Amino acid sequence: MSTAPIAQQAYRASVLHFHADPAFFEDAYRWYADGLLIVAGGVIVAAGDYASLAASLADDTAVIDYRGKIICPGFIDTHIHFPQTDMIASPAPGLLPWLDTYTFPTERQFDDPQHGAAVAEFFLDQLMRSGTTTAMVYCTVHKASVDAFFGASQARGLRMVAGKVLMDRHCPDFLADTAEGGVRDSEELIRRWHGRGRSHYAITPRFAPTSSPAQLALAGELARAYPDTYIQTHVAENCDECNWVSSLFPAARSYLDVYDQAGLVRERAMFGHCIWLDDDDFSRLAASGAAAAVCPTSNLFLGSGLFDFERADARGVLLSLASDVGAGTAFCMLQTMNEAYKVARMKGSYLSALRMFYLATLGAARAMRLEGRIGNFAAGVDADFIVLDPAATPLLARRTGGCEKIEELLFALAMLGDDRAIAATYAGGRLQWQRA
Ligand code: GUN
Ligand code: ZN
Repeated sequence: MSTAPIAQQAYRASVLHFHADPAFFEDAYRWYADGLLIVAGGVIVAAGDYASLAASLADDTAVIDYRGKIICPGFIDTHIHFPQTDMIASPAPGLLPWLDTYTFPTERQFDDPQHGAAVAEFFLDQLMRSGTTTAMVYCTVHKASVDAFFGASQARGLRMVAGKVLMDRHCPDFLADTAEGGVRDSEELIRRWHGRGRSHYAITPRFAPTSSPAQLALAGELARAYPDTYIQTHVAENCDECNWVSSLFPAARSYLDVYDQAGLVRERAMFGHCIWLDDDDFSRLAASGAAAAVCPTSNLFLGSGLFDFERADARGVLLSLASDVGAGTAFCMLQTMNEAYKVARMKGSYLSALRMFYLATLGAARAMRLEGRIGNFAAGVDADFIVLDPAATPLLARRTGGCEKIEELLFALAMLGDDRAIAATYAGGRLQWQRA
């Protein structure tokens, strides 16, 4: 892809973005029914009404006409496994058998760098067609899998967070690293990739059962030495897993406390699932500035449990939505919203469509401490945006044609939409995907 600077461009459509969380603020978003998004040099110049902004355009600015469609910030998926792309939709009765039967053999293949490079390209194509412009990505235990991933994401100019899985016990020998070796490899990868272009490194202990206390402690030291790196791991996903963690770490107050004692609960730490946490854990997450990645399609698929949005909100936890592919059953964040909505209903709470679009854009950017870089259309933010088609299918066209309120329109997109509703995806101001 060319890296030559791009001139000013403008996009005419309905424009939606957020500046606050609609669960807590009435004035949380901007909606311009006949809107204009102006982009130059890969960043946002302005977003507003076409009528008030059109006059400010330079004479030679190309205006791309997406009228009838909705432009919003690119979706952010805060927990996904790129090496599990080829094993999505693999059946197993719960998390632990699923890991043994499908995940570990699949991840073994990433000792081959060429395999990693090929899967990374397919995975990124899949993100682009799904409207996801930034993700927090688990690679495998192999260093080469991280090189393959960032090599591919940087070539496309994408903002991505990724890291090598740390795993030194309770896994097949062919996937085990060592406490020291795994952390040494992670540091080498931080030096190679973190802060280079739009790449960010995440220190990635798979989960507490597969890291020895020594490995978790070394990961915590690494996180202290590189405070602007990310941390990502799984916590309190499944009951059998939680019981296992209690028996492995009898001195810890809770599963989250295992990570806390190792120094892994801090800003820029993203904890996947958070289903079986108690109120003290949620309070600790909130106080530390760490965030939760809520993975509804995965949690329903594996039968792990139902995330409690109301309890997390009561404690002020930073929340985001995530696919968790390959346990998640869809790449598209519209489908993730669909199941998040139903999970909330099953717990007796309610997620509005505006809240779900916030969580998949600015909410995630805030959880990742990337507000100002991604997540909305404030001036100077990276030009990562998508074009949603409310008439992508006959049924969507019929349903959205009768919508009078923005909430109803977005809700119909979240319930009925999938990657067919993503008409185009732009990242860094460049067209990355266009539906045929
Ligand atoms: N817990 C540990 N590893 C994994 C994984 O790969 N996927 C999910 N969903 N949970 C995990
Ligand atoms: Zn996961």
